Amino acid sequence: MNESIIEVQNLAKTYHKRGHTPVHALKGISFSVQKGQIFGLLGPNGAGKSTTIKILTTLIVPTSGKAAVCGHDVVAQSTDVRKQICAVIQDNALEIYLSVRNNFKTFGKFHGISAKEIDRRTDRLCELFGLREYLNESGIDLSGGLKRRVQVAKMFLIDKPVVFLDEATTGMDTFNKRTTLNAIREESHKGRTILLTTHLLDEAEILCDAVTIINHGSILAQGNIEEVKSMGLQLYTVSMTCQSDPAAWRRWIEQCAPVSIEQSENSFIVTVATEDQALDMIQRARAAGVFQYFEISRTSLEDTFIELIDKKTERKA
Ligand SMILES: Nc1ncnc2c1ncn2[C@@H]1O[C@H](COP(=O)(O)OP(=O)(O)OP(=O)(O)O)[C@@H](O)[C@H]1O
Ligand SMILES: [Mg+2]
Repeated sequence: MNESIIEVQNLAKTYHKRGHTPVHALKGISFSVQKGQIFGLLGPNGAGKSTTIKILTTLIVPTSGKAAVCGHDVVAQSTDVRKQICAVIQDNALEIYLSVRNNFKTFGKFHGISAKEIDRRTDRLCELFGLREYLNESGIDLSGGLKRRVQVAKMFLIDKPVVFLDEATTGMDTFNKRTTLNAIREESHKGRTILLTTHLLDEAEILCDAVTIINHGSILAQGNIEEVKSMGLQLYTVSMTCQSDPAAWRRWIEQCAPVSIEQSENSFIVTVATEDQALDMIQRARAAGVFQYFEISRTSLEDTFIELIDKKTERKA
């Protein structure tokens, strides 16, 4: 029988920073996660994944809407929520001056686990996550991907029923990633509920029982990976060129809730989620009379993701 462990209803978050225009990071998303599921929250950079995790782990409060973990409201009953969860958030770090073994020790101790039990669990996790050979190395000496693997392994040292992993596999090579994903899968078989974020569709495909894809704070598709693949993978690309004032027209395009916008001087390639949205955009652009050239084509969400990720990599290089 299904038992809902995480319930999110119409959740919205707007960040207000003095001197900046407000950022609508979440615009009313809803989903639920069942007990024992590995649930993937997918989306490109800036989609709102970490914001969702921060709300669910009680680090920030939503602007509106509701969320509950194990039946406890994340705002009104945040202490009760915290007792049920553990989390690897995107930018939290390992204790870099401690060895891997002592990272496990201090974390276990903090959570009231006896020394003997910590040793037993450390042993099991080393096996599961392939960390034995690194046990005596200091965090500072580990590669980025390995640091991340130790962080994820640490979360399974304690017996919390709900685990949040924000971009758990960042920086991991293929081998490292496979070991980590297998270990996460094994932990979920024990009945733990895992909510993870990723911008990698292939990773979600290997691991997740259910996924929700978000972009610009709104849901694009949700269901199991097969359902999402069959319904949500088709996106539409609108190419258009304007005669003048591209900055103003970019603002106009942004209001049409696109999945992504690529701009090169006066030309735009805009990806939107539905055919209706694409047609509507073209109709309105035509009516405005400033665009010279239109083209509409179909693309896959996977391609869009890959493009976005490639761009990010290019920027870093
Ligand atoms: N503290 C903050 N103040 C203002 N804006 C913020 C803050 N945190 C996040 N944002 C903005 O909210 C939006 C969603 O950010 P979020 O970190 O949730 O995205 P994400 O899906 O986790 O992206 P990534 O894949 O890059 O980790 C982005 O536009 C981001 O710039
Ligand atoms: Mg993030």
